[in-house]
Order: sequence, then structure tokens, then C-alpha cells
Amino acid sequence: MSTFSALSKTLAAVSVTLAGGALIIYSGLYPVGADVPHNQVTYWLLETLREQSVQRAARDISLPDNLNSPRRLLAGGADYNQMCAQCHLKPGSQTTDMSLGLYPAPPSLVTSVSPAYVPSAQTEADYAMRRQFWIIKHGIKASGMPAWGPTHSDERIWNMVAFLQQLPLLSPEQYQILTAWDPAQESESHH
Ligand code: HEC
Repeated sequence: MSTFSALSKTLAAVSVTLAGGALIIYSGLYPVGADVPHNQVTYWLLETLREQSVQRAARDISLPDNLNSPRRLLAGGADYNQMCAQCHLKPGSQTTDMSLGLYPAPPSLVTSVSPAYVPSAQTEADYAMRRQFWIIKHGIKASGMPAWGPTHSDERIWNMVAFLQQLPLLSPEQYQILTAWDPAQESESHH
């Protein structure tokens, strides 16, 4: 096969692909409603795109060393309860309107297996926390996950990451207690 015919075959294949792509886009047949799941190809593409992107972006983040301090857990718990639980659930609540209606669905951060905290480890747990920090700070495009970085300090985001490591271990009562702390009240009582 000459170089010329190989080239023309490649060009033909490319044009067919482009025409197919244009047909899918302009026909209006692709369902964008949140109540119809993606087909497997689109799903795989988007999942892979997201994980590769987060992996690259999160690789240089370094963990603070006091991630299991009680103060962080209490602050992170209160924030989680106010800002995240309606989508990511809490112990004892299986679903919400948000968790059922959003697509991609927000994963339950209660039942998702969160690796135990290992101080200063360069491990999977370590990566899981860097990944969580990055996702909370920057959000995920075209999903319901907002970027919290524009409105919250890194410290506050790390507090939530700290809380997330404990969340799967909490009973509904423990959750209630851990998330009831109100930082504003504490500073008032000290003055
Ligand atoms: C309006 C709903 C909504 C709110 C509120 C929300 N999230 Fe999300 N979150 C999502 C969705 C949807 C995803 C999944 C995005 C995807 O699959 O691409 C997600 C993904 C995540 C992930 C990655 C989970 C994983 O392991 O794949 C983390 C961590 C996370 N959110 C933390 C938080 C925290 C912490 C808060 C509160 C500060 C929060 N989210 C608030 C909708 C929400």
C-alpha cells in the first residue's frame, strides 16, 4: 500500500468520524436531561477525563500535619452539615431530593469507603485526601459540585477533609454532636 493511499484512507476515516460527531451534535438526539444516564462510551470518557485531570492537578498538594486535631473535626463537621450534607448525605439519611435528582449523582460521603488516616503517609489514603481537597476547592465542571475555593480559605477546606475521614465511622447521634459546634458562639463565650 502506497503512502498516498494510506493517507487518503486516514483522511476518509477522519471525515467520517467528524461527520458522525456533527450528526450527533446537530441532530439534537443526544439526551441532555439529568434524568437520562449517559451511554457507556460518554460515561467512560467523562469519568476518565475527570480522574486524569484531578490526579494531575492534585499531585503537588501537600497535606497539613495536624489533620486529626479535634478542633479541625469540629469546625469541618459544622461546615459539612451546612454546606454539603444536602447532596452528600449524613449518617441515617439514605437519600435527599438532591442526591436523587442530580446527574452525575453526588456520591454518598458516608458510605463511600474512606481510607483511615495515616500520619505523613505517601499512600492511597494520602492521595484520597489530596484529591478531596482539590475537588472541594475547585469543584467539578458540568456537575452539581461547586468550587468552594472562591469563598472559603484552604484551612476551612482542610477542616472538611479532616471531617470526611471520620464521617463513615459516625453513628447518627455522634454526627449530631460533632456537627452542632458553632464557632461564632465559642468566640462569644470567651469574651
Ligand atoms: C448541589 C450538590 C452538591 C453540594 C452542595 C456539594 N457537592 Fe460535592 N459533589 C457533588 C456532585 C454531583 C459530585 C460528583 C461530581 C462528578 O461525579 O463529576 C460531587 C463530588 C464531590 C467529591 C468527590 C467524591 C468522590 O470521591 O468522587 C467530594 C470529596 C465532594 N463532592 C465534597 C463536597 C463537600 C465537602 C461539599 C461541601 C462543602 C460538597 N461536596 C457540596 C455535588 C455537591
